Amino acid sequence: MTQPQPNEIYLKDYQVPAYLIETTALRFELGEEVTRVIADLKVSRNPECQQSKPGLQLDGHPDLVLEELSVDGRCLSAEEYQRDGEQLIIADVPASFELHCVTVIEPQNNTALEGLYKSDGMFCTQCEAEGFRRITFYPDRPDVMSVFETTVVADKAAYPVLLSNGNAVERGEEGDVHWVRWQDPFPKPAYLFALVAGDLKYIEDSFTTMSGREVKLQIFAEAKDLDKLDYGMASLKKSMRWDEEVYGREYDLDIFMVVAVDFFNMGAMENKGLNIFNTSCVLAHPATTVDAGFQRVEAVVAHEYFHNWSGNRVTCRDWFQLSLKEGFTVFRDSEFSADMNSRTVKRVEDVSLLRTAQFAEDAGPMAHPVRPASFIEISNFYTLTVYEKGCEVVRMIHTLLGAEEFRKGSDLYFDRHDGQAVTTDDFVKAMEDASGRDLTQFRRWYSQAGTPVIEASGSYDAAAKRFSLTLRQSCPATPDMAEKQPFHIPVAVGLLTPQGQDYLLGNGATTQVLDFTEAEQVFHFDNIDAAPVPSLLRSFSAPVKLSYPYSREERMFLMQHDSDGFNRWDASQQLAVEIMQGLIEDHQAGKELQVPEQLITAYRTVLGDDSLDKAMVSKILTLPSQAYLSELAEVIDVEAIHAVRKFVRNSLANTLESLWQDVYQANLSDEAYSPDADSIARRSLKNLALAYLLATAKDEYLQFALRQYDAADNMTDQQASLTLVAHSEFTDAADELLDRFYAAWKDEALVVNQWLSVQASAPAEGALKRVEALLEHPAYDAKNPNKIRSLVGAFCGQNPVNFHHQDGSGYAFLADQIIMLNKQNPQIASRLLGPLTRWKKYAPARQQQMRAELERIKASGELSKDVFEVLTKSLAV
Ligand code: BES
Ligand code: ZN
Repeated sequence: MTQPQPNEIYLKDYQVPAYLIETTALRFELGEEVTRVIADLKVSRNPECQQSKPGLQLDGHPDLVLEELSVDGRCLSAEEYQRDGEQLIIADVPASFELHCVTVIEPQNNTALEGLYKSDGMFCTQCEAEGFRRITFYPDRPDVMSVFETTVVADKAAYPVLLSNGNAVERGEEGDVHWVRWQDPFPKPAYLFALVAGDLKYIEDSFTTMSGREVKLQIFAEAKDLDKLDYGMASLKKSMRWDEEVYGREYDLDIFMVVAVDFFNMGAMENKGLNIFNTSCVLAHPATTVDAGFQRVEAVVAHEYFHNWSGNRVTCRDWFQLSLKEGFTVFRDSEFSADMNSRTVKRVEDVSLLRTAQFAEDAGPMAHPVRPASFIEISNFYTLTVYEKGCEVVRMIHTLLGAEEFRKGSDLYFDRHDGQAVTTDDFVKAMEDASGRDLTQFRRWYSQAGTPVIEASGSYDAAAKRFSLTLRQSCPATPDMAEKQPFHIPVAVGLLTPQGQDYLLGNGATTQVLDFTEAEQVFHFDNIDAAPVPSLLRSFSAPVKLSYPYSREERMFLMQHDSDGFNRWDASQQLAVEIMQGLIEDHQAGKELQVPEQLITAYRTVLGDDSLDKAMVSKILTLPSQAYLSELAEVIDVEAIHAVRKFVRNSLANTLESLWQDVYQANLSDEAYSPDADSIARRSLKNLALAYLLATAKDEYLQFALRQYDAADNMTDQQASLTLVAHSEFTDAADELLDRFYAAWKDEALVVNQWLSVQASAPAEGALKRVEALLEHPAYDAKNPNKIRSLVGAFCGQNPVNFHHQDGSGYAFLADQIIMLNKQNPQIASRLLGPLTRWKKYAPARQQQMRAELERIKASGELSKDVFEVLTKSLAV
């Protein structure tokens, strides 16, 4: 089957819009069969556009039914406009006029969950990035900003709550129908438009801003979830205060609303004054939500709230600039979480994600710069590179400038560009202008893809008391670019005395940030009395792969003495990585495995060190993940990595058994559940100890786990037990516990999702059979992204041994799912493709199987732009 090749869009082709929309008045007549959208736009020529007499170009999805189109009150005949694919063009229009447009849509049949759709009987919208064009014809691009007024009309009984952006200014009713009119005084692009209508309940609170204005805060959900909203509200208030204190940014409307919906492609969305959240990112209750879930809610609520300034008041000129708002806002939410909880733990978590998933993306067929140069479907570029690497790029600016100059830069940025749609370059320029620093070379972080590699080496001259550090940088080729120019890399360095103290460095401090800008550079440190152990890239000061020829003893020394908490953890990780890489080779060579004494000693030392923060202890004692070891491997040997991890885990479990017991007992608690950082750390250490105990496969520890399951007053402890038992060799106990868990929680959708994930990620043989059976289970819904992610996503992403089964069944399963989802929900289909696109990292037999499935998807029929782009790019390399 041939299909028209979708076009690639290029940043270099950017042109200012020919027309601007001063005001947008929308009227939604919501119905069960059809919904009518009446749009009245005040349109005028953009004085900045050079074209003479341009036509008006509107975006509109092919499914839109156009009922009426008029200019200044005169109905256009079919000859006066042209519909072509996703566009509607009116060739002949005055310099300024009123456009009236009526479209008819069917939200109840919208399975893509873009535009206006229904989630559990309620109407809701998702317009970023290009969803507004599924509602009406409009210049659906972020540099067209307009003042919106929205009237929502619906059945009073079925949809008692009617919401949109801004303030409710008028309401009324007539018979069975009622309506509410909303006005948003802040000009915004269409992607920030939102509407919600449904039978919703809410909690309410208020916040007094730093200038003394009172803001009403409301969080809406279905009645059954009303008891799960308090934590989101508390998180919102903390976020509002933090943005005032750290960035001087105040909220700007009289009301801020959040709505929880169960059908949502992403985590949450920052629509002006009306954020819409996936239930998984806002509902939280001790009985149903695990610790990581609480922390996720806090972070996502903060993230979407922070967008009010970094995204909404100052928005993106075009979608190539996506990281302008996402990278910056991830940096803001990450710093917020660091301030609310443990800074070091947060850094460890962020870096782990970056090193496993973002580095893999940077090394794969979809590699792209933080500011991509082209795309076919923008939805494919909401990536770890744009988000997490984008965050690291902002963090590096913060590191180079220091907190104070960075704040001057952000003040200047918000001030200079308030109400505008701008570029990442404008952001960097504001940072330069406020600080006086030259960031010309630094800008390469936005335009060059790939993960830079730094090779470091040191030498000590005892006579001169000088330590010299040589750094060499390179960056691998990516599909878009073969040759890379050197990056401006901030390398934070400390030097440790033989006693484990920090030397004072030339800058008078214990850490110095080096400006590493050349392909190769030597840095000298003077007045160093004895050969130091360098602590490099402290706090992970740049998103790079750095290697230094440390001995195992030096790594153990850093683990114990480094004043940088992140590097203490990293020393432990790298020690374990090095050891496990050796064992993987042994395994491949058929040698008998043995865990080197150093790792056991390191573990024993950490277990005996009372001075360490519990959260850090549990991070240090967690072995490098399968995903991280895979990313580091030249060729991924799924079975070998899995076998070695299991072997090392079991050895540590058996050798240190009594210590694990002590840790487990010492961290039991009968205090009421609280999701504060200390309690979370205690639970994570306790459940890590339980995991090691279960790895001994002794029946007595199964009893520990079952007792904990029964005694738990919170989901964290209950789910930890469930997962450990379900993933253990105690298969009968596992089945029984899974049944009990489902029976107890079958009415809690988010808990059922966890139940699906636990089964989908179980490493034992036969997981695919189970997953296939669960597709037919009443708990599953093939139209709900959360269910798809919990079952299909978890199987393909968190069950390497079964997904990569020799017989290829895992690949075929995923391909079938993608073929089915391609039509129904292209965004989800395309995201699920991820694991198959990495075929190049596997041995030839697997490469062939994976490619064959990609080819099968390609031949399966008409592909969405989303799937087409990922598929063709991953087959092209
Ligand atoms: N603007 C995005 C949500 C979005 C992305 C909508 C792509 C439509 C298409 C939002 O601000 C966001 O980034 N959400 C993240 C969570 C956040 C904490 C990083 C998400 O949804 O995963
Ligand atoms: Zn965001």
